[in-house]
Amino acid sequence: MVEDGRTVLSSVVASQIETHQRYGGVVPELASREHMRAITPVVAEAMERAGCAWPDLAGVACTYGPGLLGSLLVGVTYAKAICMAHGLPLLAVNHLEGHIHAVMLEHPETALPALALIVSGGHTHLYHIRGDFEYELISRTRDDAAGEAYDKVAKLLGFPYPGGPILDRLAPYGNPHGVRFTRAHMKGNALDFSFSGLKTAVLRWTEANPMAEEIAVRRRITNASVDEWLEVTPKTTLDLIASFQQTVIDELLSRIEKLSEEHPVESVIITGGVACNAGLRQAAARSRIGIPIYFPTPGLSTDNAAMIGAAAYRKLVRGEVAGMDLRPKASLAL
Ligand code: KG4
Ligand code: ZN
Repeated sequence: MVEDGRTVLSSVVASQIETHQRYGGVVPELASREHMRAITPVVAEAMERAGCAWPDLAGVACTYGPGLLGSLLVGVTYAKAICMAHGLPLLAVNHLEGHIHAVMLEHPETALPALALIVSGGHTHLYHIRGDFEYELISRTRDDAAGEAYDKVAKLLGFPYPGGPILDRLAPYGNPHGVRFTRAHMKGNALDFSFSGLKTAVLRWTEANPMAEEIAVRRRITNASVDEWLEVTPKTTLDLIASFQQTVIDELLSRIEKLSEEHPVESVIITGGVACNAGLRQAAARSRIGIPIYFPTPGLSTDNAAMIGAAAYRKLVRGEVAGMDLRPKASLAL
């Protein structure tokens, strides 16, 4: 529940991590089923925590893409039903615009034009945002998203899903220059990203080094503290993790550094699940990017409804109301 596009009255997130963990990644059919189960109690809890009743609402926002169709359908249908029952306007929000507004919500001082890097399990997209919130896609990943690369590398090293946060916590214990990975050279748009080569390089490393035993040990663990992971992860593997993380951070920040020199922008926004990454935040603070860089707090970096509400507020003010014929779009562009 968001008031005036600025104040978060309540933010309830239903995690599906336990459901998908057994399969080592998100299973679309299970995701939509879990959405169906969660949506009524989550909405009720959000209303209760905010101390709101239906007549207090000015509108209902939903994400209509991009994402998994089955999950999007649950949210879109539910939002339509509330709007119909209570005579409220329906606001259709692009999920990526939501991630950008997670920053605007906490940092209303964010000046436009800006560069926005959305880094999550599904996206590694760099946008130029003009003063009037017009978005221009500058570059994107050609293959895996950064979060996907984290999760895949973690999985092949024997860590549970989602592995991004675990690798982030272990990276400070390794030498970030311990393993040298060659950087991807992009043909065509040199600002595009590619992470699948890096993932394959990690795979080759695990095959070339005697790691089978430690990987098998970690595979048997589903949940552990940093200290417990450190006990079952030798220094050479920590170096590998630190070097992987360093390479991803360099790939992300080098593009922003280059672009911020070329484009006259006022600020940089880094958002999406991977924006939680502590190494990325520290490197951004130390970087040569000479303009303010804004990250959402970790709770608003990963998927949440507050950011969708914040993005919807602008639409409500401008009267950009969606029709009851709104359909989810799995590959909706921004
Ligand atoms: O935005 P998000 O919650 O969902 C998507 O839209 O994908 O992002 C989830 C992704 C996962 O791949 C997860 O491993 C990654 O963000 N992630 C991280 C960290 N926290 C979450 N990756 C690296 N370091 C982190 N601290
Ligand atoms: Zn997301």
